[in-house]
Amino acid sequence: MKDDDVQQSLDLLSSHEMFLGLHEAKTWIQVDPEGLLVAEDLDTGCIIGIISGNNYDEHNCFISIFAVKEEHRLNGIGSALWNALMQHCGNRNLGLNPRPAMIPSYTKRGLTLKSPYDQKIYVGHPQLGQPSATLIEEVIVEKINKENIKEVDKYDKSVCGIERFKYNWLNANEPETKAFVALSKATNKVLGYCIFKKGNLCRTFSPIYADSDEITELLISKCEIPEDEKVMMATLGLSPNLEFMEKLQMKLYLTQSTLFSNEIRITNLERVYSLSSVNFFPF
Ligand SMILES: CC(C)(COP(=O)(O)OP(=O)(O)OC[C@H]1O[C@@H](n2cnc3c(N)ncnc32)[C@H](O)[C@@H]1OP(=O)(O)O)[C@@H](O)C(=O)NCCC(=O)NCCS
Repeated sequence: MKDDDVQQSLDLLSSHEMFLGLHEAKTWIQVDPEGLLVAEDLDTGCIIGIISGNNYDEHNCFISIFAVKEEHRLNGIGSALWNALMQHCGNRNLGLNPRPAMIPSYTKRGLTLKSPYDQKIYVGHPQLGQPSATLIEEVIVEKINKENIKEVDKYDKSVCGIERFKYNWLNANEPETKAFVALSKATNKVLGYCIFKKGNLCRTFSPIYADSDEITELLISKCEIPEDEKVMMATLGLSPNLEFMEKLQMKLYLTQSTLFSNEIRITNLERVYSLSSVNFFPF
């Protein structure tokens, strides 16, 4: 994918109700340039299909965006995109969130392991409680910047288990994005962070990782969501945070399973209040 292809690709994904941050593709072109592929109609120059696979470490790849324009489906374009992507993924453990109808096709391609944790996408306007006096006294929320990014990176790694330092910085600095970190005033220890970005369907939190419900609410409140605006948060089924989503009065929009090929990847669930980009990581 080239920079010029981003808008057409977003239009294609929006027509399938797939959530994507408006500027995420540009981030990914910088992080894993060979991981976003498009099929182009050579006569018109139009994008007719797209697939992405993020090699998020040496052993794992997450396949996310996969769509072909309706009028071109069942002609082998999807398979051609898939096969080209496999050159990029190599023998890595593949993961993805399948649409139910596609499960047989993915099973045939080796994704036979089903995670016990479904991905749950919520949409709504989060209803926040008042922060306690202790929280206000002990916690400071700052913009993510060059001074605190290394601590954010460490915290991120402690939750998701991978080193994605370049991604974290680009993610926090995408245009039209708010990025905050909560720190202990006493120790300067990171207690959570969030990245709030503009998306193709609505704004999304990608991610919110935090030590507690209270820290999460504090981070969300810092983002100052306009009163009439709905946002998307995605979490993992069975996670204790599902109850919290109800408390925030977020509405369940979609549940998707997660399939893997070699090994089920699970992360530090209790601190995942909203997944990093639903398109690029399983957590
Ligand atoms: C999924 C999609 C990208 C496949 O593209 P395509 O060009 O039609 O793919 P192909 O013609 O190469 O077929 C690839 C496989 O997908 C299967 N497939 C395609 N559409 C399907 C559907 N609606 N239901 C079930 N299987 C389907 C084909 O049967 C084929 O399976 P096989 O290789 O096991 O025989 C396309 O159907 C699409 O854009 N769907 C809407 C978005 C979507 O659901 N994306 C997948 C998210 S998990």
